[in-house]
Amino acid sequence: MSEILWNLFYIFLIADIIFIVLVSIIFSYFLLVSHFMRTSPPVPTVGGVKKGMLAGVESYISGKAHATVIDLGSGWGSLLLPLAIKYPHHTFIGYECAYLPYLISRLRARNLPNVRFYRQDFFTADFAEVDVILCFQLASIMQKLLPYLQRHISKTVRIYVNRYPFKDLVPLQKVSLEGDYAVYYVYELSKS
Ligand SMILES: C[S@@+](CC[C@H](N)C(=O)[O-])C[C@H]1O[C@@H](n2cnc3c(N)ncnc32)[C@H](O)[C@@H]1O
Repeated sequence: MSEILWNLFYIFLIADIIFIVLVSIIFSYFLLVSHFMRTSPPVPTVGGVKKGMLAGVESYISGKAHATVIDLGSGWGSLLLPLAIKYPHHTFIGYECAYLPYLISRLRARNLPNVRFYRQDFFTADFAEVDVILCFQLASIMQKLLPYLQRHISKTVRIYVNRYPFKDLVPLQKVSLEGDYAVYYVYELSKS
């Protein structure tokens, strides 16, 4: 009996070690790729910030006949998918450059005809029909993004930004939940 228990103990120990090593490899891979490619790692928006941003988007789109919501760097799809399930008559589009998060988000959206994920640099995205933009990117990317959006949007757009604000645009609202670590910004941007 005790031999069986020891064997089980070793099996669980080895499974734990393999799991920790795999997670560390994947995590380090994303950190290295993000560092060298100067892109944000695929860290999802979570907790109160996610709840607040999604509630904001919902109150903005719920009364509209149709709206297009895009996530710039859509990661694992965790912002768009809950909205797409709740609002089947609206369109949700995610642009993601990293393969693994993109594939997982495609898999998660397989039964949702109103969601599209593209493996594409969002600086080549089509902003003509966009009503709402979601974004969680590094500060350096945010500063390049603002003038790009000003040139490419065709109507007034509501923008929800996690953590790193646009430096040259005054937000409609700044919502701080835990100091500077859990904060999001709401902007309204019109074509310049
Ligand atoms: C911090 S994650 C945010 C994920 C998701 N938007 C969320 O808030 O849960 C940023 C994502 O943007 C992607 N990304 C960074 N630069 C990009 C670019 N130029 N085009 C497309 N995706 C990009 C990264 O691969 C990463 O998955």
